[in-house]
Amino acid sequence: MNSFRLCASVLSADFRCLEDQVKQLEEAGVDEIHVDVMDGHFVPNLTMGPFIVSTLKRITHLPLDVHLMVENPDRMIPWYAEAGAHRLSVQVETCPHIHRTLQNIHSLGCEAGVVLNPGTPASWLEEVVSHADLILVMTVNPGFSGQSFLPEVLPKIAKVRDLVENSHSRAVIQVDGGIDQKTLPLVYAAGARYIVSATAIFKHPEGIKAGVNALRESVQKNIA
Ligand code: DX5
Ligand code: ZN
Repeated sequence: MNSFRLCASVLSADFRCLEDQVKQLEEAGVDEIHVDVMDGHFVPNLTMGPFIVSTLKRITHLPLDVHLMVENPDRMIPWYAEAGAHRLSVQVETCPHIHRTLQNIHSLGCEAGVVLNPGTPASWLEEVVSHADLILVMTVNPGFSGQSFLPEVLPKIAKVRDLVENSHSRAVIQVDGGIDQKTLPLVYAAGARYIVSATAIFKHPEGIKAGVNALRESVQKNIA
């Protein structure tokens, strides 16, 4: 049995053959497809609009986990919900009315996630943790795949886990950025159970399935 959920970020997919890449993810046993939406303002990169989400929806039945790295996400939330997102996660730094934003996401029938940048303290979650389905602790500064894991974020994952437990929140803890065979056991030990990965899956020298297997095995070896 898998002890964590693997969310493959298509940011590193080969978009010349997106459908084939997603089918390979399905066959490798990935649990969710992670979609990184970047607006060129909140982060210095511009990526995927709702059209990509609706295209993915036609390709796969896997849940679409949409990570909004955009300024003013409230105006875009309905676009991505309509396109077929299963979960919408917003960066807490972009949401002056985070409580209302989470309500909006739920009212559109999606799960709601809250994301913390590496420089944002866990305490920003205190008043909303019981309204979130997922807390994403960024383990790189958002914007690009292929960056190095920031080990100084590890204590914050454990703090978020304590906050979730003490608030009797249903929220699960996700991590995103620089996750590979070496760093996955570390975030797992700190309490993360939803694992986002792009490079370690798509750029594995032996292909997607080998990348997924290597990630799975890194935890199995560690908890055995
Ligand atoms: C970074 C994105 C990540 C990214 C992860 O801003 O939010 O989802 O795709 O890429 P890797 O796994 O290569 O760090
Ligand atoms: Zn992401």
